[in-house]
Amino acid sequence: MHLFSAMFLLVMLAVMPGEALYPRPEEGWEIYSSAQDADGKCICTVVAPAQNMCNRDPRSRQLRQLMEKVQNISQSMEVLDLRTYRDLQYVRNTESLMKVVDGKLKVASENPRSLNPKGFQELKDKVTQLLPLLPVLEQYKTDAKMILRLREEVRNLSLVLMAIQEEMGAYDYEELRQRVLLLETRLHSCMQKLGCGKLTGVSNPITVRASGSRFGSWMTDTMIPSSDNRVWSMDGYFKGRRVLEYRTMNDFMKGQNFVQHLLPHPWAGTGHVVYNGSLYYNKYQSNIIIKYHFRSRSVLVQRSLSGAGYNNTFPYSWGGSSDIDLMADENGLWAVYTTIPNAGNIVISRLEPQSLEVLQTWDTGFPKRSAGESFMICGTLYVTNSHLAGAKIYFAYYTNTSSYEYTDIPFHNQYSHISMMDYNPRERVLYTWNNGHQVLYNVTLFQVIKTSGD
Ligand SMILES: *[C@@H]1O[C@H](CO)[C@@H](O)[C@H](O)[C@H]1NC(C)=O
Ligand SMILES: *[C@@H]1O[C@H](CO)[C@@H](O)[C@H](O)[C@H]1NC(C)=O
Ligand SMILES: *[C@@H]1O[C@H](CO)[C@@H](O)[C@H](O)[C@H]1NC(C)=O
Ligand SMILES: *[C@@H]1O[C@H](CO)[C@@H](O)[C@H](O)[C@H]1NC(C)=O
Ligand SMILES: *[C@@H]1O[C@H](CO)[C@@H](O)[C@H](O)[C@H]1NC(C)=O
Ligand SMILES: *[C@@H]1O[C@H](CO)[C@@H](O)[C@H](O)[C@H]1NC(C)=O
Repeated sequence: MHLFSAMFLLVMLAVMPGEALYPRPEEGWEIYSSAQDADGKCICTVVAPAQNMCNRDPRSRQLRQLMEKVQNISQSMEVLDLRTYRDLQYVRNTESLMKVVDGKLKVASENPRSLNPKGFQELKDKVTQLLPLLPVLEQYKTDAKMILRLREEVRNLSLVLMAIQEEMGAYDYEELRQRVLLLETRLHSCMQKLGCGKLTGVSNPITVRASGSRFGSWMTDTMIPSSDNRVWSMDGYFKGRRVLEYRTMNDFMKGQNFVQHLLPHPWAGTGHVVYNGSLYYNKYQSNIIIKYHFRSRSVLVQRSLSGAGYNNTFPYSWGGSSDIDLMADENGLWAVYTTIPNAGNIVISRLEPQSLEVLQTWDTGFPKRSAGESFMICGTLYVTNSHLAGAKIYFAYYTNTSSYEYTDIPFHNQYSHISMMDYNPRERVLYTWNNGHQVLYNVTLFQVIKTSGD
């Protein structure tokens, strides 16, 4: 049993094979990479240079070293690539087996008596069959570390390039440097994607603090990358204007070192989110979304979310004017709400963070009044079926494929009244406000391995 849960706790990481290496003779050498997200595939590729003209340059010692590094990166990528390909088939086969065992395990844990000696032996055999998967998963963990090291190498590379540029003046290294920076950005985005996956589990809760009234909202910045450690707390769902800003999580726990922001317009609900140093919230008795910038203490933009119900017309099951729920995940900023034409079913819109314009909209078909709360992870909306005890994550809507599925992911609703639940992609935790308690959960994400050859 132990073995089994350990396997599920590992997040599988996949490295997508890149293209072959294309030396570019006219330039001598070149770095290239791409992080494709159109179909959810992530490709990290570094193209090796052709060894030529640079060797003749008397000042080329650093350059040669650079080329070697780039080649080293390419080789590492190829190794990762091969390994992925080799393990893929095996992991695929095992995946279906895992599903069977998981199902059996669930039945058994709900009804221990259903497991007779024969059933138990069967389960044991299945688990034994799964055993060889462990080293494969270990390998993926190692690969993930390798990618981290590659990232560091790329960062070093761009430092060396900058040094060379200073030494040699213009040349055409500026372009090269830009490419390296781009490579770094893309690798970062690859990393982000590699860490993405489907929600398969929620940890036990950790109560960080008991403060405020029954309903409220608290959060840290959801932007990636961000080193902003401030914590914001907004007590109540009705006409509030007071936002408390704590310097750190530790300060929040102790209720010390905070400043206050008095918002120019009151808020409705608890669906607020802090993204890239600004608070996005729903203005009281309207479907207007406001972007309030903390540093300048000013409203940068406000815009009506077209057609969105408000004023407690389409709240979550707990009420509280929770008509419009704003959230952020690995893919950006989102609004979850509903409209009269959508007959009260949950609508998801991706928002442009500067202008608050709607970029794209999905109709999930799930009635908002039957939802306890919802949160977004890696472009998937997860919906709970209640705000009360016994709630579980019941429904998932995949924006990448515009499809849904019913889920059965339990979590412990310790204080029996959740009025806010949001994922923070930077910390990979769920923030919740549960009956005057500020509670965190870890999440387990599971990624199925794909290759570009699919
Ligand atoms: C490239 O890899 C080889 C073998 O692992 C190593 O000896 C060499 O120092 C590396 N070169 C650079 C520039 O990192
Ligand atoms: C990057 O540079 C730092 C400082 O020079 C060095 O300690 C580190 O080992 C380098 N990392 C890689 C992967 O080359
Ligand atoms: C869509 O996203 C989910 C995770 O949120 C992932 O498991 C699934 O594989 C993705 N589907 C495609 C077709 O990329
Ligand atoms: C984050 O905010 C800064 C300015 O504060 C801006 O330059 C940057 O583009 C923003 N990033 C995103 C992804 O919105
Ligand atoms: C909002 O709802 C309250 C109570 O039902 C009502 O009195 C008020 O007129 C409504 N305001 C708007 C702008 O719809
Ligand atoms: C989440 O996991 C990390 C690492 O294991 C741990 O330090 C942290 O306390 C966990 N948080 C929660 C809310 O369980």
